[in-house]
Amino acid sequence: MEDKLKQIKNDFEQDIARVKFQPELESIKIKFIGRKGLITQVFKLLPQLPVEQRRAFGQKVNILKINSARQIDDKEKELRNKTSSSRPQDYKFDLSLPGIKKDLGYIHPVSIVIGQICELFVELGFKIAEGPEIETEYYNFEALNIPLEHPSRDAFDTFYLKDKFLLRSHTSPVQIRVMEEQKPPVQIIVPGKVYRPDATDASHSYMFHQVEGLLVDKGITFAHLKGVLTVFAKKLFGDKIKMRFRPHFFPFTEPSTEVDISCIICGGKGCRVCGHNGWLEILGAGMVHPKVFEAVNINSSVYSGFAFGLGIERVVMLKYGIDDIRLLFENDLRFIKQFS
Ligand code: DAH
Repeated sequence: MEDKLKQIKNDFEQDIARVKFQPELESIKIKFIGRKGLITQVFKLLPQLPVEQRRAFGQKVNILKINSARQIDDKEKELRNKTSSSRPQDYKFDLSLPGIKKDLGYIHPVSIVIGQICELFVELGFKIAEGPEIETEYYNFEALNIPLEHPSRDAFDTFYLKDKFLLRSHTSPVQIRVMEEQKPPVQIIVPGKVYRPDATDASHSYMFHQVEGLLVDKGITFAHLKGVLTVFAKKLFGDKIKMRFRPHFFPFTEPSTEVDISCIICGGKGCRVCGHNGWLEILGAGMVHPKVFEAVNINSSVYSGFAFGLGIERVVMLKYGIDDIRLLFENDLRFIKQFS
């Protein structure tokens, strides 16, 4: 039986020395230490030995088994390290096997629309700017002429954090941050996330996205605002749409306007999406208020400008016919995959 064990040991050593590829290693494993392997089989012969020899011989078999398993492990590591450096022709490929499809990821519909809007404004000469999502009351309100206690502050319902910090409720504070750093001409668009403590339903989310725009220079008038926003809306929604500029109030612009487009679903005839009046409100805009210029030390008798802000999710929902905003944030790939 001793001889038999030696023979197995020799065979094993010869076999393992010849191994070049992982699959060969696998069959050696099965041949020697698998459930029906040669070494495992020797254990079964133990009862044939005289009782007093069993223990010592059993230990020998055990040691052989452990050593063999370790050598297989070492070989496996060695092969794995070699894989990266050896030449492709050393491998046996089965070219008939189906490939493994890589899931490359998808662009979220909100990112698609932000990308389209930014591209469009960049063509018109705007630069992309960004600002922090954690803001101060000063940038989110005061510098934008929204004083404490002013009822208009309610319209920008806000998540407050500690120490006068807050989650910005609109992208307008970036107007202030940019004008503090840069004197006119200023021509920026600002995509980003904003937060408001609204109860979530089919059209409200506590987090959504806006794109802010600001253009300041000498001699800028409401006509420039109308021209730029008309070009923008027609490029985004198609040449056929009509525009409507309705007077409105925003503390940081004067005069201010809300801009509607003719309903892209019914063409203006009236349907469920436009509330049967033929128009869809898409953005707020206006001429930069002198108080805002004052806050950033820009002389409003020399410079003027216009600003606008639009909600992205609404545009996404209109463009793709999505009737529930929650779909955009549930991270369900079956939904997200459909757009890019
Ligand atoms: N910040 C406004 C909001 O969140 C949108 C807005 C309106 C931005 C008029 C502007 C503007 O820049 O001029 O409702």
